[in-house]
Order: sequence, then structure tokens, then C-alpha cells
Amino acid sequence: VPLPKRYATQLPIPSVLQPVRTDGTTDYYEITARPGMARLVAGHDTEVWGYQGMFPGPTIESRSGRRTVVTHKNELPHPTVVHLHGGHTPHDSDGYPMDLIAPLGGGTGGPGAGGMAGMAGMGPATAKPERVYDYPMNQRAATLWYHDHTMGFTGPHVYRGLAGFHLVRDDEEAALGLPHGPRELPLMIADRAFAADGSFAYPALDPSEVKPGVQSAYMNGVLGDVILVNGAPWPVAPVDRARYRLRILNASNARRYRLELDPQPPGGGGLLQIGSDGGLLERPIAHDAIELASAERFDVVVDFSRYPAGSSVRLVNRLGSGSTAEVMRFDIGSAQVSDDSRVPGGTLAKVEKLDASKAVATRTFTFIKSQNNWTINGQGYQPGQSLASPKLGQVEIWRFVSDVHHPVHLHLDPFQVVRRNGDAPGEFDAGWKDTVDVLPAEGVEVAVRFTDYAGRFLVHCHNLEHEDMASMGEFTTQ
Ligand code: C2O
Ligand code: CU
Ligand code: CU
Repeated sequence: VPLPKRYATQLPIPSVLQPVRTDGTTDYYEITARPGMARLVAGHDTEVWGYQGMFPGPTIESRSGRRTVVTHKNELPHPTVVHLHGGHTPHDSDGYPMDLIAPLGGGTGGPGAGGMAGMAGMGPATAKPERVYDYPMNQRAATLWYHDHTMGFTGPHVYRGLAGFHLVRDDEEAALGLPHGPRELPLMIADRAFAADGSFAYPALDPSEVKPGVQSAYMNGVLGDVILVNGAPWPVAPVDRARYRLRILNASNARRYRLELDPQPPGGGGLLQIGSDGGLLERPIAHDAIELASAERFDVVVDFSRYPAGSSVRLVNRLGSGSTAEVMRFDIGSAQVSDDSRVPGGTLAKVEKLDASKAVATRTFTFIKSQNNWTINGQGYQPGQSLASPKLGQVEIWRFVSDVHHPVHLHLDPFQVVRRNGDAPGEFDAGWKDTVDVLPAEGVEVAVRFTDYAGRFLVHCHNLEHEDMASMGEFTTQ
């Protein structure tokens, strides 16, 4: 299929969803997952499955500490589940993979007779066409995202478009005076492949229907050859000669990126990291490049006044080649503009450091391939089977070991990387994280302390094909 022309589209910014109702303590939202159309390939419409029919879905903005209730409806021909990634959320609203929202018309739906084989036992009797997700939002300001989490179908669902931003804001952050308004850009980066008719080319909606010839590529994780930012191929963002805050999210199913500005600004350090998955860092870190695995977020400030007026800067991917080596372009205006934003050179935020020496337990989770799926400690995902029972409020060390590359994600609470291969954390491990990039044959230790909510939560690989092929486990907090 002819690829869309590079740098032909302006960067879209997902719209901010307005609450349908608010009261003294709570904002209420409604979102419907439904098919929609996008024009990405010349001459063809691409069907997306999107929240409100859009890819990315609309952005939700919450105040820290202000309850957010989202009623998710499903008008897709397939059951769905919604997870707020990075949310500090009780089990009931966490998007447990078996807590299905039934499709339009009821039942478990599915593309064919064998289509929902993996969902046997998840009776249509209990599934409803909508579900209310109740988020207390007792957490710091951070870049969260919501996405599908359906048992065995997260990969194909997210690939079709079921992902959106959910930003949490708080007073500590607002007081800093960071770039905001039109100078704050959420960037959802996701690769896709297109079929000749313009549709997203994913091996199969149902993993059991993947053709033998592509089985092993599928098993490693689905990669596309077109990089989309906020749903647009290689877009252009017109920017002022001023500071911009870029909230970068890798929403790709399986692709990793090493992002760099090209050219680098004089003196380098063009990507000034101010935050990670779990919100602001203690102090900014200047990077020439950042590496992001699936689901990781980097909050960076770029000062375009370091570049000549009227010049262009590309965001490039040093782990890609050909069409995947380029991500987007910024076209810098030539006008003199005012910029009242600030990025404190010293302390950005108070960040509590978990004391790893006080850990009450060390647990090892080994992510390895078995014959035809991916396992944790040799075991494929079994709903209801708990791998660990951490006590709320206590620090533990969780050790993630991998064969090939696995971005490991925990639900409920973020963690801090304490060691990588017995050594200090890596240069991209700073701050509160909820997903950590575990490289081939690595061991990464994180300090984690689960809080507030007792119940069943997930630890899994965020390569979505690995996840669908059983690289997931449950832990039960108590
Ligand atoms: Cu973003 Cu359990 O996933
Ligand atoms: Cu999550
Ligand atoms: Cu994996």
C-alpha cells in the first residue's frame, strides 16, 4: 500500500472531553467505544475502533484528589474492557480483563464461531453493554492513558485505536509555571501497518486465527511501518520560538523508540525531561535522546528558541530505519514571541524515595517464552490465580528477569527502579515509573509499595501481543 506522504498533515491534538455532569466532589463523563473513520491513506478510509469513534480517544483531564467517574459504553461488535494505565484505582474499576463490557446487541459477540474461544466461561449473562469506572484520583499529577484491556484481545483492540490520554493535574505542578495551553502537546506515538484498502493491517482479530506463516512475527509483537502521532502519519506541528511541554506516550503495541531532535540544539540536551510515568521528577534531566518502550511516558520540555527563526526540527527514531526512522517535524515560526513559562533548574517536585533497605520481601518474576506463549515464571496467565500477596503499605523488591525484551508494567501503584543488572538504574529509569523497559537477558529490581486498595491486580508485559499470549499474572494486595 502506498504510504502517506511524509509531513503532509498538521499534528492533530485530541479534544478534551467535557464532563456530562459535575457535583461538589465528582466529575462524570460518558464515553462510547464505536467504529469511526480516518483518512490516513490517500484515496481510502481507515476504520478505527475508537473511544467516541476517534483515535486517539478524547483526553480526560482530572484534578488530583477529585473523583472522576466514567461510564464506558460499547457499540463495537466485540466485548471490551477499559483500563486507566497509571491510575491508582480500586480493583472494581481497574479494568480486570474478565470484567467485560458486552458488545452492542449483547452476548460476547466475536468475529466467528471460534472467535471468542479464549473467552469461554465469561458468560454473556453477567456482561452489560456499559460499565461505570469510578476513579478516586488520589494521586499526583501525571500523564496517564486509558486503553482496552480485554482478555486475549488487548493487542488487536488497541491497534484499532482504543487508546486515549488521561491527564492528572495538581497545584504543586501548576505553581511551577511550566509551558501550558497551546504550548503543552500530548504526543501519542504508535506505529501501524496499512493494507491495500487502507485498513489497519493486523494479523488477525483473534489470535487463534493468525496464519502459520506470520505466527512468529506476531508472537514477537506486531510492528507497523508508519509512525502515527496522535493518529496522524508523520505530522507537522507549527511552533513558536518558545518552550513547549511534550507529553510523549509510546502507545505502540510492541515498538520501542529512541527519540532525538534532529538537528540537536547548540550544546545538546534538547529533551529536558521533567517527568516520567508517575509524574514530575525531583529535578529535570537534560537528554540528547530518550528511549521509550510500550506504555512508557516521558514528559519533556523543548525550548525552540534555541533554534534559528524559521527553521525546522524533526523528531527522529534512532531505533528505526527507512520510514520508521522519522516521527514528526516541528516548524518554528520566525516571529518574536513572549514566553512566560519557566522550568526550575533546581527542584521541580518533592519525590518520596522508597527505602529499598526496608523491603519486607523480594519476589522474582521471570518473563520467558514457552513453546507457544509467553509466561511469567513458566506459567501463562490464569485468571484468578495469584502469584503474590503483598501487604498494603509495605515496601517490597520486585525483580523482573527477561529472556527477550519485555516492558513490564504494574497496576495499582508506581514503583522506583533501584537496580539494573545489579548496578545503578539506567539513564531512562528516573522517577516514579509504572512500566520498566527490561532489555534482553536483564534483571531489573524495583521498589514498590502498594497502597489503599485490597484486591486483585495485574503484573504484565506491555508488549501487547506478549500480554495477549499469556505474559500476565495477578497479585492480590491485602
Ligand atoms: Cu497499560 Cu495493564 O496496562
Ligand atoms: Cu496499567
Ligand atoms: Cu514481553
